Parts: sequence; C-alpha cells; structure tokens
Amino acid sequence: MSKAISDEASTWVQINHEFWLSERRCAEKWEVALANDKGRPPLARARISLAGTGTARIEELHVNAESDRSVLPALLYSAGRRARIEGARVVQLACESYRDVAVDLMRLSEGSPHSSETPVPWQRLDIAMCALSTQLEGLNTPIASSLMVAETRESVMRWLEPGETWGFFQSVLDGSLSKDEYIYALGNVHQFVRHTTRILGRCIAHGDDSETRRHFINHLNGEVNHELIVEHDLAHLNADVHFVQHDMPPNLETLEFMAVQESAIAYHQDPLLLVASPLAAEGVTAHMSERFMERLRACISSWGVKSPEKACQFFSSHMTFDGGMDGHWEGTLVYLERILKSEPQFQRFLTTCRASMGTTTRMYESFTRDLRADSNLHISS
Ligand SMILES: [Fe+2]
Ligand SMILES: [Fe+2]
Repeated sequence: MSKAISDEASTWVQINHEFWLSERRCAEKWEVALANDKGRPPLARARISLAGTGTARIEELHVNAESDRSVLPALLYSAGRRARIEGARVVQLACESYRDVAVDLMRLSEGSPHSSETPVPWQRLDIAMCALSTQLEGLNTPIASSLMVAETRESVMRWLEPGETWGFFQSVLDGSLSKDEYIYALGNVHQFVRHTTRILGRCIAHGDDSETRRHFINHLNGEVNHELIVEHDLAHLNADVHFVQHDMPPNLETLEFMAVQESAIAYHQDPLLLVASPLAAEGVTAHMSERFMERLRACISSWGVKSPEKACQFFSSHMTFDGGMDGHWEGTLVYLERILKSEPQFQRFLTTCRASMGTTTRMYESFTRDLRADSNLHISS
C-alpha cells in the first residue's frame, strides 16, 4: 500500500501570471498542486510516481470543474517538470481522469516504450513538455522564466549534494590528499581559468542584447587575473609554474569540461548555452564550506608547507567571488531569468548544464584518482 503524501511544508513557485505551484513529496511519489496565489486552496493537483527507472507515471489528476482551460496544461507541465528534475525521460499516463485531453495535450502514444510492460499512454518528456509549453503560449499563459530558473537552481543543488564524496573533496576531508595531487588539481584548474576572460569576451561579442552584454561585462570584470591566483598557490608549493603555464595539457576530464564551454561560445556562439559551464564550475566553489577550507589548510600544513593559507588562495577567494547573493553564481541565475524565453531553448540549456555538471564531477574525481597506484587504468569512459 502506498503511503499518503506527507504534509510537510512546501514552497511556492510561480508558474505563470495565473498559477502558483506547490509540491509535496513522499518517498518516490510527488503531489503537485496549482492555486491562483500562494497559500490559496488548490485548483488542481496531480500525483506522480518515480520509480528510478527514468519513467514518471502520472497516477492521479484532479481539476476543479470551474477552472479555466489553461489549468490542465499548466498542471501537466508542473508534473513533467518535477519528473525532469528527478531524472525521468519518459512520462506515462496511468489514470483515467482527463485521459483524452491529457493524451492530446502531451501528444501521448498508446502502447509502451518497453514491449514487456502493460500498455499505457506515454511520451518522451522532451516532446511532451514542448507540446504543453506551446499550448500554454497559445492560451496567453506562457511558462514564467522564474520557473525555469527555479528548476535550474534545484537541478544544480541536487547535483552538488554528494559533492563531498567526489575524489578531490573526499580526500581533502579525510586528510589523504597528497601534495602532488593538489598540484595536479591546481594545474588542471589553471587550464580553463586562464581562458575565462577570453571566453566571457566572446560572450560580449556575441551578445545581441544589452542585458547579455551587461551581464558578461560584469562577469569578465570579476575574473581578471584569476589564473595568477592559481599560479601564486602553485609557487608557494614550489611547483613548476612554467610547465603549468606553457607545457601542461589538461587531463581528459578537464578537457571534456573545456570542450563543452568552448563549443557553446566558439562554435554555437550562444552566450546562453555558455553559462551552463560557470553554473557548474562556480556552483562548486560558491558552495564550498569553511570546514572544507580548514581541512585543505590542514592537508597543506601536513606536507610541511609554511603559511598554508598562501597555497589555497584560489579556492578560498572563490568562495567569495562566486558565492553569496552578490557572487558570480547567483548573478548568473539572475541573468538567466531575464534571458530564458522558451521551452526548446530551456531544454537545450538544461542538457548543456547536465553535460557541464557531469564533466565537473569527473574532473574532481580525476584529480586524485589519476595519481593513485590502486586506481584502474583509465583510458576513456
Ligand atoms: Fe574566477
Ligand atoms: Fe567566478
């Protein structure tokens, strides 16, 4: 028997100029509810289950009979949005209420993507969400960009949750980080940090609106000479700074991170796609804890390095540069809210975000794994 949806306090987020969304979770089920304003009784609600298979099932739909035509597509979009945050790529309709309308709105197909399952109407989430968004635009109730930013913020924060288990961070926290591993990490960070102002300069050049140019001018001004901070850290460790500056190649995972950001602006020339990279990289530095910095200084000190704080200026300074309400990470989200306009554009951005987050995780894993004798030979993944 499934448990009832819990009554724990839910936050409200605006869907568009007509509806507000609240959500409650219980185990693998979510209830999404729509109201005319924060705290008002729901006009409509849906219950979805997520079994961790990449498929979300809509199990219940309830709509107040007096509600207007835009409430059902807004409710289905909200359910699909939750499914997407939870990692689903397919949506199934497993209830009878509003079945014909929902099938039409989400362009559901009869049958099943997996032939062994009981046939139920289903669709790929990317297709269903575009169809619902188009429907809402046609009813003059388009999805608010603030809802897209809320989804982005939650997706990034969800990705960061296990960050302390990524190799580099875990090694700092358990005190096993070696000096060579730290020098290797800083050397790889230098590979992309030294390109930041040039990349942001390209965003200014390809910024077709003043909002975009203003954002990237401000961000560029906040990144000047940051590679020098890495170099000073390396010099304090007596590392070969010249090699890092001129001869060192990025490792595989660092190159993957750089490839995502460089293709976004150098090939696609799209400043919106580019911000997926700082959202991931600065998401890490913006959310580092003082406890992590204490442990990093302790590691550095354990190698016999005097004044350990002089060897971790890059990370300590970026907690301030990137973190806080006036830091680069929050500034990027403010910019996103002003620039996101459509569901297809948002989906493309979300995919680029997931690529950047994946490469960032692998990069921080590689910084310690690559130098450890007990790690498996790693060619490519
Ligand atoms: Fe920076
Ligand atoms: Fe930054």
